[in-house]
Amino acid sequence: MAGLSVDQIPLLSGAVWPSGHAREVERGRIAFLHRFNAECGDIGRLRFFRTVVVVNSPSLLHEMLVEKGKVFEKSPVVRGALYPLVGEGLFTSRGELWRRQRKLMAPMFQPAQIARYALAMAECTRRGVATWQDGATVEMARETTRITMSIAGRTLFDAETFDEADAIGAALTTALHWADETTVSLALQIQIEARQRLERLGEHLPPSWRARIARMVDALEPPLLLPGARSRELRAAIGVLDERVQRMIDERRAAGLTRSDLLTALLKSRDEDGARMSDRQVRDEVLTLFVAGHETTATGLAWSLHLLARHPESMRRVRAEVDALDGRTPGVTDLPRLTYTLQVFKEALRLYPPVYLFGRQATEEVTLGGYRLPRGTIVLVSPYGLHRRPAEWPDPERFDPDRFTPEAEAARPRTAWLPFSAGPRTCIGNHFALMEAQIALAIVIQRAELTSVGEVEPEPGATLRPRGGMPMIARLRRHN
Ligand code: HEM
Repeated sequence: MAGLSVDQIPLLSGAVWPSGHAREVERGRIAFLHRFNAECGDIGRLRFFRTVVVVNSPSLLHEMLVEKGKVFEKSPVVRGALYPLVGEGLFTSRGELWRRQRKLMAPMFQPAQIARYALAMAECTRRGVATWQDGATVEMARETTRITMSIAGRTLFDAETFDEADAIGAALTTALHWADETTVSLALQIQIEARQRLERLGEHLPPSWRARIARMVDALEPPLLLPGARSRELRAAIGVLDERVQRMIDERRAAGLTRSDLLTALLKSRDEDGARMSDRQVRDEVLTLFVAGHETTATGLAWSLHLLARHPESMRRVRAEVDALDGRTPGVTDLPRLTYTLQVFKEALRLYPPVYLFGRQATEEVTLGGYRLPRGTIVLVSPYGLHRRPAEWPDPERFDPDRFTPEAEAARPRTAWLPFSAGPRTCIGNHFALMEAQIALAIVIQRAELTSVGEVEPEPGATLRPRGGMPMIARLRRHN
């Protein structure tokens, strides 16, 4: 295969033996991403014990995620860390299983299908805002999480009230914390490395050995749980989730699959051969949707409200759109009248992309931007860095929702803005999230005047949440 070698990709300065850039990333991921942008630009190389390539230009991202999307699989780190919680759900699965499931589920997330959830989205937001006291300080990141969690509960399970106090909510929180810690654990890195070495070894052995090696490789897919309190907590949380989801599946089957929630849609769906999903697959998918959908949207909403509170002219424009509804709770037919509100959310996702970093692994040798990447190369994509390239985003730190007028969007490469990724593994819930955000933002601004309290910094964890929360003073308007 022609092309330059991977070692010719510019290496970011400052790698120290043996961990490379790992210590610097640990000290501050955001500062690191800024430094990468300034020094490497379109493509660069990092060292985290092994070489990792970072791709950071719209054209290279189009090549990687869209044109060669089939060659770049999900990163084994994310797969490993999320495995106990979401198993082989859409976010983590690969190959034929992923393809079949994506085909099966895509119709459920088309705009025409999700329109029926607008009412639930509005109702959950109204209920959330109704708990605020006039003039009191609310922790906005927590409030938007409560709202999106209850929307997820309603749309997925038709659950009336759904929050962290609920057993499922608490178990999910435990499992997510565990996944977050595991993403950066050395034990998982070692397990992944061992698995990949075994896989490679298998290729050079006689067929009689290959099956044995393949079984060992499979056994190393779920992360090994070391003895201790954290593993016990995780097992208990997974036990609760398994039991509760199975109970909901059984209830729906007993009632003849008449409900209009997503769980029922999953149970009813059939693939191209007419086969139904197993209960285990339904469980993995429903938990995947819950996990992938609620915190991402909540984080985007919190940043949108923060940015609006800091930019009175933008706030005035959103309020003008919302007040033109004459006090009506916005529904799906009002969405075309809330275009600036949607632009605000998109600009917030540009500045503070909830998924600020994601990874892929080359499943075979492949060229990217003229460089030859060996099979197994890990490639990172940072929407946070990409969204700050001055070439596509002049004066990148400035908040300006007019970057998202239809004309401005049409003039930019599509892969310049990647909060939802792109290509075959693009977010299946992007229309859902945009509709949810448009409705939720409109209702909050309709009902409350918000003032920011103090400085807020992004904290890169599982998503890009505000460090220490996002306190805001809420003065209630006449609707409440
Ligand atoms: C603002 C909110 C959201 C953001 C920023 C977001 C972002 C993303 C990103 C970046 C990916 C690709 C990750 C990767 O390639 O490693 C993704 C995948 C996914 N998202 Fe979202 N998401 C959001 C909301 C939602 C919602 C509301 C749902 C479901 C109701 C959802 C379900 C999924 C699923 C199932 C996948 C995996 C798709 C596949 O691999 O086929 N997301 N999301």
